[in-house]
Amino acid sequence: MAIYTLPEQDVKDFLASYELFDRERVSGSHDVQNTVNYYKVLNHLCAVGEVEKMYIPPVVDPSLSIFENQLLWEEATADRLGIMPGGRVLDLGCGRGRVAHHVASYTGAHVTGLNIDRSQIRMAQDYANVTDLLGKQLSFVYGNFNDPLPFADETFDALYQVQVLTYTVDPRKLFREMYRVLKPGAKLSFLDWVQLPDYNETDAYHLELLKKVKPLLGAVWTPKVSDFTGPLQEEGFHILSSQEASITGGQYALIEKARSFFEATGMLLRALAKLHLIPRHFVTLFDRLTQDGEAFMESDRLGLFTTSWQIVAQKPPTERAEVNDARCLVAIAVRGAAVQASAAGEELAALGHSSPQMLVQDTDIDTTTLEFGQEPSRDFMLGFCVLLAASASRAEHPLSRGLEASLEE
Ligand SMILES: C[S@@+](CC[C@H](N)C(=O)[O-])C[C@H]1O[C@@H](n2cnc3c(N)ncnc32)[C@H](O)[C@@H]1O
Repeated sequence: MAIYTLPEQDVKDFLASYELFDRERVSGSHDVQNTVNYYKVLNHLCAVGEVEKMYIPPVVDPSLSIFENQLLWEEATADRLGIMPGGRVLDLGCGRGRVAHHVASYTGAHVTGLNIDRSQIRMAQDYANVTDLLGKQLSFVYGNFNDPLPFADETFDALYQVQVLTYTVDPRKLFREMYRVLKPGAKLSFLDWVQLPDYNETDAYHLELLKKVKPLLGAVWTPKVSDFTGPLQEEGFHILSSQEASITGGQYALIEKARSFFEATGMLLRALAKLHLIPRHFVTLFDRLTQDGEAFMESDRLGLFTTSWQIVAQKPPTERAEVNDARCLVAIAVRGAAVQASAAGEELAALGHSSPQMLVQDTDIDTTTLEFGQEPSRDFMLGFCVLLAASASRAEHPLSRGLEASLEE
């Protein structure tokens, strides 16, 4: 277990890194180093419990575990983003790459994870390697998302980040970069820590809770929702939704599960350390990690903060299909129905589009059905054909050529 052999210096650096959470915003190389020192130990501590992915998810089903809720929420988000087989997805602040792994396996897309801590990148690569997805559906790169993102313009079909924006230096600059690397029509999802309208910064008790909760969650900046939605819009995104993602309105059920787990683990570790069966630093680290768990539950109960606010936004599509004769397209759609839905999905991805819906926006054509592994619906085929029609002039694909011929008939 990596935590057992943790170098003493890493333990010292981890404890010292907590000064970061006294700050309101990350700035400068000292804070960057503290972020790395914090996460290079924290990820091991979290992996001992149910939070290897280092986030408490929205409550999707309160009867299920934290891990199961993570899986359900990740799948729902992938669906929401319209991630398709062969699509390219960016995960900012990807931790040990476990969310990326699940999204890649669930959707068949290729997910690229970016992280500021090289040790997490290595662990993400190792896991992707043993599960045979490295290089095929997963890749991980070192990088600081406060710097220009190391990707070409319009690389990705979707982007998500899970609880990392507290480390943002300049939201507008970051969102501009997101806009640049996303393809037109691509969607993004943020799941993050925000203050809620009931938080009152002049209330001493609220302030005390915030001071206790920040180190527990590794939070630096505590933004309002508008600190995200405003700059996103200013950079050209359309906000599709912005809401608490827990069906219970708060995360109480899952915070309690995490707290009891870490409390029980702490007791066990203390007993083992007393018997000299494990190094003393285990206890020191766990005590630091779990300090003030009550404050998190209290602030959730009072509705002051949440770590599960979700924003879904879209870079506007720039390509619009010219739909001059909808009846003609319907005819083609019916004729094209032999094309399997999965093949159609690959075609869409290859042509750089994430959904047929995008191409028929602003028309009265309804193309909301897109189900893989099933018979393509007429609407799906219609959207697909509209796409091919739009791409026919430049795509040298046999289906496009067939379509051109059909259009000429
Ligand atoms: C709270 S964890 C989020 C959990 C993570 N999304 C996962 O999949 O496990 C924050 C993550 O963001 C990374 N991080 C923090 N600041 C960063 C930055 N400026 N650039 C890139 N990654 C960063 C940390 O190393 C850590 O892995």
